[in-house]
Amino acid sequence: MAGKPIHSSGTFDLGGMPIFRLGFGAMRITGPGIWGPPRDESEAIDVLRKAVELGVNFIDTADSYGPTISEELIAKALLPYGDVLIGTKAGLTRTGPNVWPPVGRPEYLRQQCELSLRRLGVDSLDLFQLHRIDPKVPADEQFGLLKELLDEGKVKTVGLSEVNVAEIQAAEKIVKISTVQNLYNLSNRQSEDVLTYCEGQGIGFIPWAPVASGGLTKPGGPLDQIAHEVGATITQVAIAWLLKRSEVMIPIPGTSRVAHVEENCAAAEVVLSDTQFAALSNGEE
Ligand SMILES: NC(=O)c1ccc[n+]([C@@H]2O[C@H](COP(=O)([O-])OP(=O)(O)OC[C@H]3O[C@@H](n4cnc5c(N)ncnc54)[C@H](OP(=O)(O)O)[C@@H]3O)[C@@H](O)[C@H]2O)c1
Repeated sequence: MAGKPIHSSGTFDLGGMPIFRLGFGAMRITGPGIWGPPRDESEAIDVLRKAVELGVNFIDTADSYGPTISEELIAKALLPYGDVLIGTKAGLTRTGPNVWPPVGRPEYLRQQCELSLRRLGVDSLDLFQLHRIDPKVPADEQFGLLKELLDEGKVKTVGLSEVNVAEIQAAEKIVKISTVQNLYNLSNRQSEDVLTYCEGQGIGFIPWAPVASGGLTKPGGPLDQIAHEVGATITQVAIAWLLKRSEVMIPIPGTSRVAHVEENCAAAEVVLSDTQFAALSNGEE
């Protein structure tokens, strides 16, 4: 294991299970609109295996990616998982490409947990995240179901996604929250208060769209300049900035391409000075 690029990212303790902080997001290994199978299944499988070969041991997915496709490909590519932990999610249904209506009824969330267990080929999910709090269902019922699954051993740890601080606190009264997954990257820091709260509580903060879905390309801006200074790509600097921003930060850049997974994993070895970090923090809002 020694000497793999990802190991430079440091570790986070996910409920007693250490993970390297630079993970992989498996949403992009499906078809367009996160709907149906990928254009090239063999490349999707190569992407997953390459991430693990480079040291990734935390992969983020969801029942709704495909739907089902992402979890099925993860099992096909990686079983038996060894020390690789898989975080999945439930709570968003799919009625077509790019459509994600929330459903948080406890019996539905339980069904989705059971189906993820079956698809991933495991007895217990490493991390089960409520993809969204369904506003049509009392939040406590959704958190209560997460607590039941934890107590039953169906899931080892529990996370939330797209939540504010008050919602995390409400959930914590019912169930231990190990991670929060919110939109966060150099150009979108609307969840700064949530990140600060997670730091204080030792909750893992998983920023989704960590490389702004490939949109961090401002030629001539601070990102461009610092990428040039450190001899890295813009995407790598954006990931390195996240890793330096907080010890609870667990970026999960996603890609459908082997070349991009290699580039993104190498970001764990990119070192930013405090001056470069500050320039990025101040210059890319
Ligand atoms: N909790 C939530 O509500 C939520 C929402 C969205 C996503 N997520 C999770 O977060 C993960 C990451 O989010 P995301 O996929 O939306 O955004 P992202 O990781 O910021 O960006 C992924 C996009 O950027 C491109 N990309 C990746 N690496 C690149 C590189 N080195 N150079 C150029 N382009 C690159 C990819 O295209 P190529 O395929 O061409 O590389 C892909 O279209 C997902 O996989 C999923 O697990 C969670």
